[in-house]
Amino acid sequence: MDKFYVTTPIYYVNDVPHIGHAYTTIAADILARHHRQLGEDVFFLTGTDEHGNPAARAAERRGVTPEQHVDEMVVKFRELAAAVDATNDFFIRTTDSQHVEVVQEFIQKLHDRGDIYLKSYSGLYCGSCEAFYSEKDLVEGKCPDHGIELELVEEENYFFRLSDYQDRLLDHFEAHPDFVIPATRQNEARSFITQGLEDISISRAALEWGIPVPWDPGQVVYVWVDALLNYLSGLRYAREEDQTARFWPADFHLMAKDILKFHAVIWPALLMAAGYELPRHLFVHGYLLMGGQKMSKTRGNVLDPFAVMDQYGVDAFRFYCFREVTFGQDGVVSLEGFESRYNSELANDLGNLVSRTVAMVGKYCDSSVPPPPRDGSSFTRSVDKLRETVVTSLGKADITGCLESVWQFVRRLNKHVEQSAPWVLAKEPERREELETVLYELVEGLRICAILLHPFIPATTVEIMRRLGYPPAFEELMIEKARWGRGAPGSPVVAGDPLFPRLD
Ligand code: MSP
Repeated sequence: MDKFYVTTPIYYVNDVPHIGHAYTTIAADILARHHRQLGEDVFFLTGTDEHGNPAARAAERRGVTPEQHVDEMVVKFRELAAAVDATNDFFIRTTDSQHVEVVQEFIQKLHDRGDIYLKSYSGLYCGSCEAFYSEKDLVEGKCPDHGIELELVEEENYFFRLSDYQDRLLDHFEAHPDFVIPATRQNEARSFITQGLEDISISRAALEWGIPVPWDPGQVVYVWVDALLNYLSGLRYAREEDQTARFWPADFHLMAKDILKFHAVIWPALLMAAGYELPRHLFVHGYLLMGGQKMSKTRGNVLDPFAVMDQYGVDAFRFYCFREVTFGQDGVVSLEGFESRYNSELANDLGNLVSRTVAMVGKYCDSSVPPPPRDGSSFTRSVDKLRETVVTSLGKADITGCLESVWQFVRRLNKHVEQSAPWVLAKEPERREELETVLYELVEGLRICAILLHPFIPATTVEIMRRLGYPPAFEELMIEKARWGRGAPGSPVVAGDPLFPRLD
């Protein structure tokens, strides 16, 4: 059986989660659900990054210990994963004792192999990025990402010989043109490397809130090294048995562009140093913007995902995020945009189609799905093509492209209703067969939509299947079932409330 391992970044717990965090988690969930539909063995990991400066400072501001702070904050992040209906197989915390062990073991190994050395260092540090910047990176003397003043940090730190990996990294990029997707991000990452890599500091002396360096407990491991290792450590202890051999290398690490360099340069070099295979793909998406700026805790322009989901429902929220903004690019989100798509696409295109179809089968066929036409259907080939498009596009994490192709099919079904006008056919008894064909096609088309849309709007599609008369079994939702004519004639349709009540 094929395997599929997908991850989200582990989120900082210096503040409550916002829509940006929900976004990446939903994307990973869409891929995880799709690969389960393909019959693969899936591992989906998300979690929280709990060490380092921002968390320690947030705790200080609140007058609690870092331990208390992270224990409280993690609750919200776990709730968010559950609220967006994420099917993560594990939720990792970098304060888990087993994670700490893996980090210490990993850097001890690098130290033993001579990849780590001690050096005095001074540099400009952004406490929010947890990264050093050189003068040339600054924007008006400030952090290019957070727009805040940097501190001059002078310490004796342990350094990782990143510069030794420059050629091997470039070779890897050369040999794997789709290592980083989209291609523009691959080029960006490559150019970080060709500009020349300097060794990086992988410990901090002045911080206490972190994982002690095993051979020098006066220092803690740099939070980014600690955090990146979650992708390996999670496999080690999520289940009773170590899952590394089963799932490593990761198939997709998802993230936004802010943390590309850590994932495309530092992480692969660390893995090479320790003798691990590299992840197959990094998918780098854009920012959800509010009022033209990246949503961020530091800027304070955040949208509360819990409030949005409370008001409009989880599936509507999942749908909107990937329909409105092309996955991989930046895009503006707003409540107005949300409401307009909700009404036109979820309430009208999909919800209404389900209600009408079920109502017509109820009225004209005694709620039992009519038999398929005897001489095949024009839908057979287009559904085969659509299914292949879905598999190919999600194979590249092209979530928005996939959704668009399924939506074209939803629209085609709506046109079919209008053009064939079953209510007219129903008045002419000699056209009974035509009527039954159309109703069969609508039910069959909706069944296929439900399968193909399942990763995006899971609860709604399960409900659509129920209304079309299918038992609540995952086998019904496997991709293999998205073939024209696999539906069961005679299945009993069930009416219900609108799936997406219109918003006024
Ligand atoms: N803790 C690090 C990641 C370590 S991974 C080994 C971190 N945490 S974070 O809380 O800042 O989360 C960053 C990630 O959250 C982004 O890479 C992205 O996946 C998601 N997003 C945060 N804000 C976002 C937007 N405004 N838009 C899209 N994604 C956003 O970095």
